[in-house]
Parts: sequence; structure tokens; C-alpha cells
Amino acid sequence: MAALKAWIIGVFCAVLFTDSFTTAIVFPRDDIASVLGPQLSSGAQIVLSSNPDFGNATARWSLFDHPKFTAAVKVRTEEDVAATVRYANQNSIPFLAVVGTHGTIASLGKFNGIEILMHGLNSTVISKDGKTATFGGGKKSFQVIDDLWAAGKQTVSGICECTGYLGPALGGGHGVLQGKYGLIADQFISMRMVTADGVLRDVSASGPNSDLWWGMRGAGHNFGIVTSFTSKIYDVPYGGLWSHETFIFNRSKVEAVFDTINWLSTQQPPGMFNRDLIYRDPTKDPNNPVLEVDILEEGVSAVNSTFTDRFRALGPMSVTSSSGTYKDIPRWAGVGRHTAACKKKDFTKIRFPIGLISYNATALGALFDEFTKVTVPGSPFNRSEIMFEGYSQHGVREIPTDSTAFPDRADNQLVTIGTANSHDPGLDAQALKIGDSLRQILLDGSGSPDMHSYVNYAAGTESLQSMYGFEPWRLKKLKELKAKYDPHERFGYYAPIPV
Ligand SMILES: Cc1cc2nc3c(=O)[nH]c(=O)nc-3n(C[C@H](O)[C@H](O)[C@H](O)COP(=O)(O)OP(=O)(O)OC[C@H]3O[C@@H](n4cnc5c(N)ncnc54)[C@H](O)[C@@H]3O)c2cc1C
Ligand SMILES: *[C@@H]1O[C@H](CO)[C@@H](O)[C@H](O)[C@H]1NC(C)=O
Ligand SMILES: *[C@@H]1O[C@H](CO)[C@@H](O)[C@H](O)[C@H]1NC(C)=O
Ligand SMILES: *[C@@H]1O[C@H](CO)[C@@H](O)[C@H](O)[C@H]1NC(C)=O
Ligand SMILES: *[C@@H]1O[C@H](CO)[C@@H](O)[C@H](O)[C@H]1NC(C)=O
Ligand SMILES: *[C@@H]1O[C@H](CO)[C@@H](O)[C@H](O)[C@H]1NC(C)=O
Ligand SMILES: *[C@@H]1O[C@H](CO)[C@@H](O)[C@H](O)[C@H]1NC(C)=O
Repeated sequence: MAALKAWIIGVFCAVLFTDSFTTAIVFPRDDIASVLGPQLSSGAQIVLSSNPDFGNATARWSLFDHPKFTAAVKVRTEEDVAATVRYANQNSIPFLAVVGTHGTIASLGKFNGIEILMHGLNSTVISKDGKTATFGGGKKSFQVIDDLWAAGKQTVSGICECTGYLGPALGGGHGVLQGKYGLIADQFISMRMVTADGVLRDVSASGPNSDLWWGMRGAGHNFGIVTSFTSKIYDVPYGGLWSHETFIFNRSKVEAVFDTINWLSTQQPPGMFNRDLIYRDPTKDPNNPVLEVDILEEGVSAVNSTFTDRFRALGPMSVTSSSGTYKDIPRWAGVGRHTAACKKKDFTKIRFPIGLISYNATALGALFDEFTKVTVPGSPFNRSEIMFEGYSQHGVREIPTDSTAFPDRADNQLVTIGTANSHDPGLDAQALKIGDSLRQILLDGSGSPDMHSYVNYAAGTESLQSMYGFEPWRLKKLKELKAKYDPHERFGYYAPIPV
């Protein structure tokens, strides 16, 4: 116990001396239970590091440069969130909201403080007219999907079932229904949040904090902890019917496949998207990576051959297909709640995103070859993969690009290099180098010097412009909002915008 205390003190001192908002040296608090505890609602719980549940309460999806926690507060009410933020501020202790634990960006590695576990804020209320719903800020994607599905409704959400719903949304938020309705953030009608000063505020397009409304949709992790939000919802069409067709190709077809994906992106209707992968699977090819192309379509029992014939004609190694419902999509995509995408405490995973207007087939061939080299059997990085998200953009383009803080509405393709290795911090530098150099191949082939990096996939090696947009007015506006709502940079750990 003494050793543990000494460790906590050591950790706190390190934080105190580097934190810009500390005005006086405050000694570490071991009174969170006695001081904050009585201010919380009856259902809330403080989990100290000595509690056997602490490991589970703080486990992360990726072990890369993860945040470190001194205590976890499992909140049950929005007032619990506000009280915890005020307690943390009074004691100069950093705080971090957590839902799905999938946040993976080097800036989180600087965090050392109180985890605010949001899962208890899990309400769902569908409006009488069935056009909107209000959710608690601790919902995971599958909870939103399931609650709406039970009422014959759906909305745009991330494809991975077990990420938080808001983590993706606050950065814009990509999802399979974006071709029809726009990004996840485009669905927001209003939200309620605790700002850096520990005050609960309502934020919407009109009203007292309307300036923040722009920033919350694209850079939202920087300004507050959202305790509840109201979003647009839609009737599930075609009884929820969806189908998919999956092709596996080897190296010989890579250039032709990406040229065909370019063609598809100009053709695919709003209710279609493709999601493609380069990865190793010894059962498919014992020596080399494969390229998988998945095409998914709404409302049909087999994907319309108008969109698949060209892929068949290229001579894939295999073709499979099936149909089911909207709820089967995460499982088809390998990101359902029982897959590795939802496991915690196992791997070091880092992502390196780049948004593109279209693919340069030559560069994609080079990317495949370099990926083959860095993941060669025996390499610690052999479980890495490259993901290609080809969402329909119709709904996304209907929203004016300057109306939200999400900067990349013009891109048609989102590529994410994902390095994965068994946890060994000694490999982090090498993983970062591999990821950055693979991504550079695509940037070089893009004909533009500007790397567009979706903030929610960013590794932390990217520039602010990369994550928040290259038009100078964007960062200027974000910095003004930051100075107004978070002058002490308390939301300074997830792709932070400096004041
Ligand atoms: C397997 C996988 C699949 C993914 N799929 C998609 C996808 O389909 N679409 C997409 O857009 N993104 C996707 N992402 C990226 C995802 O948007 C980010 O990883 C996001 O950070 C996940 O949020 P979380 O709640 O799971 O993570 P957490 O680590 O719990 O949260 C991430 C950060 O969000 C902030 N935050 C969390 N809750 C709140 C809140 N209530 N209010 C304010 N801030 C909050 C905090 O700063 C926190 O550090 C995926 C990621 C993974 C690993
Ligand atoms: C931690 O989580 C695992 C997996 O969900 C569970 O089996 C285990 O019982 C949990 N441990 C504690 C102490 O809650
Ligand atoms: C919300 O979370 C609480 C506490 O974990 C749980 O008891 C309750 O059943 C959950 N409600 C919903 C709607 O998921
Ligand atoms: C990666 O390497 C490990 C250890 O050599 C091996 O068990 C695993 O099957 C490999 N995975 C792939 C996808 O090649
Ligand atoms: C397939 O798509 C084409 C092009 O959009 C369309 O003309 C045709 O009607 C579709 N076929 C079916 C069976 O839906
Ligand atoms: C690639 O797959 C094709 C069949 O689609 C096969 O003819 C060819 O030999 C394979 N090439 C390599 C290098 O494995
Ligand atoms: C495609 O990428 C290659 C390799 O980086 C580059 O030489 C070529 O100029 C690129 N083509 C276009 C049209 O940008």
C-alpha cells in the first residue's frame, strides 16, 4: 500500500509540474471517495486503483500509448459528470470521458488522471412523432442500434458495435447510412454537455451556445463532455434487408481492382457502400497478403450485378455472398461485438488515416508491395491490415462543407493503415515509422501535398491542419472557440487544439 501511494504521488507530481492550468502546488488527493463521493448520485461509484474491478474499469481497446488512470468514476447522472469535473478542477487533476475505450491517439498517452466512465448515462427516448430520439452520452453504438431497431427505426452510427456512439460522432462520424443521411454528426438536433468549467450547457444551432454547435460536429472532443443528445432517426426501409458480396484477390489484380473501385464510387447509390481490406490470412494465401473487396447494398437479396460484374470479370480467387439485415453488417464487416474489434487488453494497435478523392492504382500497387514486406511471416507486425472505406457520399455532400467543423466532405475514399503487434512498447517507434511510411505512399500518389487525416483514426503524428482542415479559417475559428470555452485546455488529450 505504501508503495502504491508513493507511486500515485509520483504520478501526480509529474502531472502537476507539466500542467499549464496549475496555479499552486496541490498535493495529491487520496480523498476522492470522501470528498467527491457524497456529491454523487446514489447509483454512481468511485473505483479506486485498489479495487479488484479497477483493471476492467480502465482496460483499453489498444495498448498503444494509452491514458493512465488514478481512479474511475462510474457516473449515473449528468450532475455526477459536472460534480466530477468540478472536483477534478479544484484539485488540478485531469479528467477524461470514456465510453467505448477505442480512442487511440498519441496525445492520450499524456493523460494521467480521473476516468469518467459514462456507461450509466444510457437512456433512450424516442419522440412521439418518431423523427428524433434522445440518448444518454454513455451509449455504445450497438445500444443505439438495438434500441432503435426494436422500434423499427435507425440512424447513422459507426460500423463497429462496441465503440461509443459519441466518440465517432464528435469527430464527424462515418457510418454505413451516411450515403443516405449524412455523417453521424449531421444527425444531431441538440446536445447537453458539461463544459470545462463544470457547468451543464445546452448546445444547438440556436440558443446561447450556438457558436459551439459548429465545433461540436467535427472537433467535439475538445469542448465538453456530452451527457445527452437528440438526433434524427428514420424508419427502417425494406424490412431492414441488406446483402453483400465479397471478393478475394491476390497481388496480380490490385491495380485493376482499385481502378474499378474508382468507377464504383461514381456509380454507387446512397444505400450502397464498399469496405475493403489488405491483410494476411494464411488460409487464403500462405505466403502473401490478400485484397478483399466487400460490396454491401440495402433493400435487395443479392447485390445488383451492375455493380459487381466488373469485379467478377477481374478473376477473383473467390466470391462469396449472403443476405440478412442491417443488424448483420457489423458481423459481416468483422467488427461485431464478439470479434477482435471489440476485445480489450490484447494488442498494440495504431491507425494512420488518409482521405482521398480517388485511388492512384500505381500507388496502390506500391502500397501492397510495401505492406507485403513489412508484414512478412515472422514479423511482429504480421497482423496489421489496411482498411479502405468507400462510403456513398450523397447525404454527406448535401450538408454545406463550411457548416460544421468536419473538414473532409470532398473525399470519396478513406484509407486507414492499421499496425498491430503484441504489446511491446519497444516496438511503438517502429510501428509509427511503418504506418507513416505506408501512408506516405498514398499521399505521394494523390497529387496533393495535403494529408487529410480523419481525426478519429489519427495516430497523433499528424498536423492540426491534417485533422481539422487546411483552410486557415477553420483552425482560427476552432482556436477562438477553445479560448472561449476551454482556456485552460482541460480537454487537452484527444487530438487537442491548442489555445
Ligand atoms: C474497431 C474500430 C472501429 C471503428 N469504427 C468507426 C466507424 O465506423 N466510424 C467512425 O467514425 N469511427 C470509427 N472508429 C473510430 C472511433 O471514432 C474512435 O476510435 C473513437 O475515439 C471511439 O470512441 P470510444 O467511445 O469507443 O472511445 P473512448 O476512448 O472511450 O473515447 C474517445 C474519446 O472521445 C471523447 N469522449 C468520449 N465520450 C465522450 C462524451 N460523452 N462527450 C465528449 N467526449 C467524449 C474523449 O476525449 C475520449 O478520449 C472505429 C475505431 C475502432 C478501433
Ligand atoms: C473483468 O471482465 C471480464 C470479462 O468481461 C470478466 O470475466 C471478469 O469477471 C471481470 N472482472 C472483474 C473483477 O469484474
Ligand atoms: C443502464 O445502465 C444501468 C446500470 O448499468 C442498468 O442497470 C440499466 O439496465 C441500463 N439501462 C439500459 C436501458 O440499458
Ligand atoms: C503472425 O505470426 C504469428 C506468430 O508467428 C502466427 O501465430 C500468426 O498466425 C501470424 N498471423 C498471420 C495473420 O500471418
Ligand atoms: C441495378 O442498378 C441499375 C443501375 O442503377 C438499375 O438500372 C437497375 O434497375 C438495378 N437492378 C435492380 C434489379 O435493381
Ligand atoms: C493470383 O490468382 C490467380 C487466380 O485469380 C492465379 O491464377 C495466380 O496464379 C495467382 N497469382 C499469385 C502470384 O498467386
Ligand atoms: C500516381 O502515383 C505515382 C507513384 O507515386 C506517381 O508517380 C504518379 O504521378 C501518380 N499519378 C497521378 C495522376 O498523380
